Amino acid sequence: MTHVARTPAEVRAALDAARRSGLRVGLVPTMGALHEGHLSLVDGARDHGAEMIAVTVFVNPLQFGPAEDLERYPRTLDADLARCRERGVDLVYAPERPTMYPPGFETAVEVGELTTRLEGRFRPGHFRGVTTVVAKLFALASPCVATFGRKDYQQWRVVARMARDLDLDVEVVGMPIVREPDGLALSSRNRYLGPAERERALGIARGLRRAALAFDQGERDRGTLERLAREPVAQGFDRVDYVAIADADDISPLPDEIGERALLAVAAHIGSTRLIDNVVLGEDPAPPCRD
Ligand code: PAJ
Repeated sequence: MTHVARTPAEVRAALDAARRSGLRVGLVPTMGALHEGHLSLVDGARDHGAEMIAVTVFVNPLQFGPAEDLERYPRTLDADLARCRERGVDLVYAPERPTMYPPGFETAVEVGELTTRLEGRFRPGHFRGVTTVVAKLFALASPCVATFGRKDYQQWRVVARMARDLDLDVEVVGMPIVREPDGLALSSRNRYLGPAERERALGIARGLRRAALAFDQGERDRGTLERLAREPVAQGFDRVDYVAIADADDISPLPDEIGERALLAVAAHIGSTRLIDNVVLGEDPAPPCRD
């Protein structure tokens, strides 16, 4: 049975009862429009010892910029509940906006320099919105484990840093990216793409794959790897925000000659849709790619 909670009091009551009977709570924060990427996080929480799993569904206005897609972001709560039920989720917390942010709400949680890099440069205030809502969810649910997708790689690192810096007793796990067979990373935003755009979007997987294969063959020059990845992205997309290699732990810049493990991250626009993706060179397999 999947229980649906609309208020913090209901969440607390359900999770406190679970804890009293000795269950370890796992938390999976989402903005809904659930797909297999999200659901892999449910399995991941269970694999990391969670026995009572709570999924949160909340399109968080604080993390959207003024020109971003807050109002058109897909909202599919009934389908989300059905997917959660099928996957054995115990609790879904789907608060209304004023429940999360009542009038007069004025507190924020902000991580420092880590949030100024990559995504932070293009989405000012985004991570502040993410950490504020995730801190609220952690405080409410007190999970033993929380799972995040490496699709939003920097977000995972930022949340892990927040938990460490605030002494939150939660294991913040980063789960592998779930992709379509042709390499496109699953994303709620993929549904904005028309068929021709969907095809062009494969430029990201193509670029990541090219760089990952070159890395596997011994290429360690940062500029060369970034160039290899950038070309197919620039071909398919209307605008590239970044194709960049950075430290896989703290997202800091790396020297020209990189070591044995590094993040290669991409953000680019097709029409009004912005997609992100990445691969950890030296760690992840090269993404699949059709052609
Ligand atoms: P959302 O975009 O809904 O994503 C929820 C979680 O699913 C994130 O941890 C994200 O990285 C993960 N995810 C999305 N697509 C994935 C894929 N293809 N493979 C693996 N994991 C994937 O990220 C957010 O929501 C919000 O910022 C949130 C953390 C909920 C705070 O509002």
